[in-house]
Amino acid sequence: MNAVISQRWWKEAVVYQIYPRSFMDGNGDGTGDIPGIIERLDYLKDLGVDVLWLCPIFPSPNDDNGYDISDYQGILSDFGTMADFDNLLEQAHQRGLRILLDLVVNHSSDEHPWFTESRSSKDNPKRDWYIWRDGKPNGAPPNNWASIFSGPAWEYDDASGQYFLHLFSRKQPDLNWENAEMRQAVYQMVRWWLDKGVDGFRIDAITHIRKEPGFPDLPNPKHLAAVPSHEMHRNKDGILEYISDLCANTFAHYDVMTVGEANGVNVEQAADWVGEDQGRFNMLFQFEQLKLWGSDGNADLDLPKLKQTLTRWQKGLEGNGWNALFVENHDIPRITSTWGNTEQYWRESATAIALMYFMMQGTPFIYQGQELGMTNHPFTALDQFDDVAARNQIAEWRAEGRSDADMLADLLSSSRDNARTPMQWSSEFNAGFTIGKPWLAINPNHQWLNAEDQADDPNSVLNFYKAMIRMRRAEPTLVYGTYDLVLEDDAQVYAYTRSGEEDAFVVLCNLSDADWHGDLGVATPAETGLCLSNYADAAEQPADRLRPWEARLYRL
Ligand code: GLC
Repeated sequence: MNAVISQRWWKEAVVYQIYPRSFMDGNGDGTGDIPGIIERLDYLKDLGVDVLWLCPIFPSPNDDNGYDISDYQGILSDFGTMADFDNLLEQAHQRGLRILLDLVVNHSSDEHPWFTESRSSKDNPKRDWYIWRDGKPNGAPPNNWASIFSGPAWEYDDASGQYFLHLFSRKQPDLNWENAEMRQAVYQMVRWWLDKGVDGFRIDAITHIRKEPGFPDLPNPKHLAAVPSHEMHRNKDGILEYISDLCANTFAHYDVMTVGEANGVNVEQAADWVGEDQGRFNMLFQFEQLKLWGSDGNADLDLPKLKQTLTRWQKGLEGNGWNALFVENHDIPRITSTWGNTEQYWRESATAIALMYFMMQGTPFIYQGQELGMTNHPFTALDQFDDVAARNQIAEWRAEGRSDADMLADLLSSSRDNARTPMQWSSEFNAGFTIGKPWLAINPNHQWLNAEDQADDPNSVLNFYKAMIRMRRAEPTLVYGTYDLVLEDDAQVYAYTRSGEEDAFVVLCNLSDADWHGDLGVATPAETGLCLSNYADAAEQPADRLRPWEARLYRL
């Protein structure tokens, strides 16, 4: 039986994630900006997406590329002005495109006036808006927690003689969610944007806002300088009270879309976060799948495990919540490099991975350049990395005595900068991204891997994405239908069905370099039912034979 699923615009939407610094430079200073995004709205409309999620566009000293915000209600001057933003919002809305902003409220920048005040003295009224503690009697930090970006999670402030907590970089002090006044200030800011007409938010690092009461030390059998501390601040008991309070005071009063970045939430807990009767978020970016790829430099795809993980989420939220579907974002290397084949089967693997996730139940997200099959950057030296996480990591590794070659090899496959190189618009100078000096190196493969060339090629990755988006839009079953895995244990092919009241589809993706032949586990689809494929002659091929990285969608 199909679960009854309510219809919502954000379930039918396809979201496109923009990393503004690298999307399009409108003024030639080498950094992407809002006028650049406006220039490319027609490209996005033509691609067929409905919603644009912009990574942070607010004033920031850019220690973590905008995830360290110094003014929540302004626009970073590198990106333009508030007038530019208003223009973007209007031009997007005119084209039927909605805009999501990134809400970063686990922490602010240390240059935010709230923090400047908080830091100014122990009895400042905003002291308690952040998390200040005395050091240990010997002067050491209040506890041994490590920051997610390496080193201790505490920074000493000379002037007031206390430490402040920063789960991310030392320029990202954590806001204190226990403080009701601070929470109200955040809600007011969120409502200000919603009143302006933005269509929702992606909510950054939100599972970290509650910390273990008492801030205890972690066991430290290996005598580390600082101990990885997720268990002390990730999805802690009581956090849902904060989430409810946030949502009730903001999103609940608007028809908007919300997606929480939910490191540490498992599928059993997810319904509390996104259950439709809970009044919290609409969907989550879950992290279980991330453990299966790239971010730790481990590129081996364990397909049965991937199927188990994604299927657990598909079935776990069925009729009860909604999934956010993604394979790339600005924090993970390019999927074609980690799981695909960047050589002989580059186009086939980029499209097969795409179909694999895109037709599941949930809202698909596309990260800029993913629709072109962009790949990791061939970095050749450590000083080419920009990301604060990479820079801190290098410093830590260096202290441990790791060789440059070894560090480079690791970062080549794991660095977040892989996904942050500029968008490849054309084969021309600087990939058509800027006429200035690009802020981060452009991948030399833009000579053959770029949007302009792909637009004219009917078999391109770009045109495959367009076809997938058209299919989802035309077929409600591909949005709302029930997901069922087939070929559970097969180590080569990811296959699943989507079934509605009146029709059904099967997705078949060979995620390997080898041919596949086997029993499909569903009624063999008729050739006439072929809706989409990434090999031009697929209609003449039997459904139970797939070539390397061949992917097909059939109507059953
Ligand atoms: C999220 C963002 C990431 C950022 C971190 C701290 O994980 O996606 O880019 O560094 O939060 O804000």
